[in-house]
Amino acid sequence: MDVGHQPIIHPGRVMGRFFFRLAGSRLGRYVVSMSALDRQRHLLSIAPMMDWTDRHCRVFLRLLSRHVLLYSEMLPVDALIIGGAFHLLSRREEEGAVVAQLGGVHPERLADGARRVEDAGFVEVNLNAGCPSHRVQQAGIGACLMKTPLVAARAVASMKRAVSIPVTVKHRIGVDTVDAESQLVQFVAALADAGCDGFIVHARLAHLRGLNPKQNRQCPALRPDIVYRLKARFPHLHIELNGGIHDLEEAARHLAHLDGVMIGRAAYRNPFLLAGADRAIFGDFSRPTPSRVDVLRKLIDYGERLAAEGEPIWHLARHLLGLFHGRPGARRWRRFLSEHPHRMAASARLLQESLRLAETLEATP
Ligand SMILES: Cc1cc2nc3c(=O)[nH]c(=O)nc-3n(C[C@H](O)[C@H](O)[C@H](O)COP(=O)(O)O)c2cc1C
Repeated sequence: MDVGHQPIIHPGRVMGRFFFRLAGSRLGRYVVSMSALDRQRHLLSIAPMMDWTDRHCRVFLRLLSRHVLLYSEMLPVDALIIGGAFHLLSRREEEGAVVAQLGGVHPERLADGARRVEDAGFVEVNLNAGCPSHRVQQAGIGACLMKTPLVAARAVASMKRAVSIPVTVKHRIGVDTVDAESQLVQFVAALADAGCDGFIVHARLAHLRGLNPKQNRQCPALRPDIVYRLKARFPHLHIELNGGIHDLEEAARHLAHLDGVMIGRAAYRNPFLLAGADRAIFGDFSRPTPSRVDVLRKLIDYGERLAAEGEPIWHLARHLLGLFHGRPGARRWRRFLSEHPHRMAASARLLQESLRLAETLEATP
């Protein structure tokens, strides 16, 4: 994508609009709770994705954009607090600003989890209220929370009391309902009262029976119009859109109406779309747009450190499969990485060899 010399959206305009809204806000408590959230940072984020947005993926994505906000995979709070799986909170300095997403419902455990998230250096903690998987349903967490706004509000209030970092919620426009808008409004109002600092809305209904998680990300149709109306109804709240956004131009179009945009699958399949984000979305022209080869060169150093720690290089290399998405040689690139004869045993040399291939492919017009 040609990002040109002008940001697609000038952040100054967004901030101006924000302060204007605050000045007109009727409810002082929102001003207090929202002051903690770094709104510039929230213009563009990459969605939490289980098995995808692990720490190696985040190190890679950070090399493409200094400013994009990254999320962890969902971390089940029971695994953390009861199971003692604190390794889930380990992060690398190179990842920059990352939000940790928790899955849970029990207020005390969520508060404990949120404290550990803050201690581990994450910039915010997010509660998952949108995942429709069977396992999540059995635990009464994820999208189930949308059906019980008061339970969700109690959970958020408990997390808010426990930490000084912002607490946000990622949810759907509705769950198992024919009247999404009234369910959504009730849910958001209850969470706002509990002090929730921001709402990331996946603009699609979730059906807990009959559809698996993958189907629940494909149908029914996306309804960004409902999220726009939510923002119009609660102009003082921080509201972001997620779902089906393919590129930065589309993101910028939504940013004219909303506070932030979150991209999921498109950014994983085509991570290079992020290379233009610092200029086009965040208005930062202080660095040249990185090339694929620049990113790989920097990753080699990281890969060598991983290998020295005994971590299979494939854990990093698998996230690079989409780096040449849409470019000549994309298939050759994927084949090179994934058909490496001993991919689990591959050493950091795999990255050096991939750099040579990348140089050849990048030189291809
Ligand atoms: C492989 C995969 C794993 C996901 N895991 C999570 C998760 O852990 N937490 C969450 O809130 N959403 C999860 N999601 C949903 C995404 O965050 C996002 O809401 C959804 O993919 C819609 O955005 P998109 O159309 O931009 O991909 C996952 C999606 C995918 C594809």
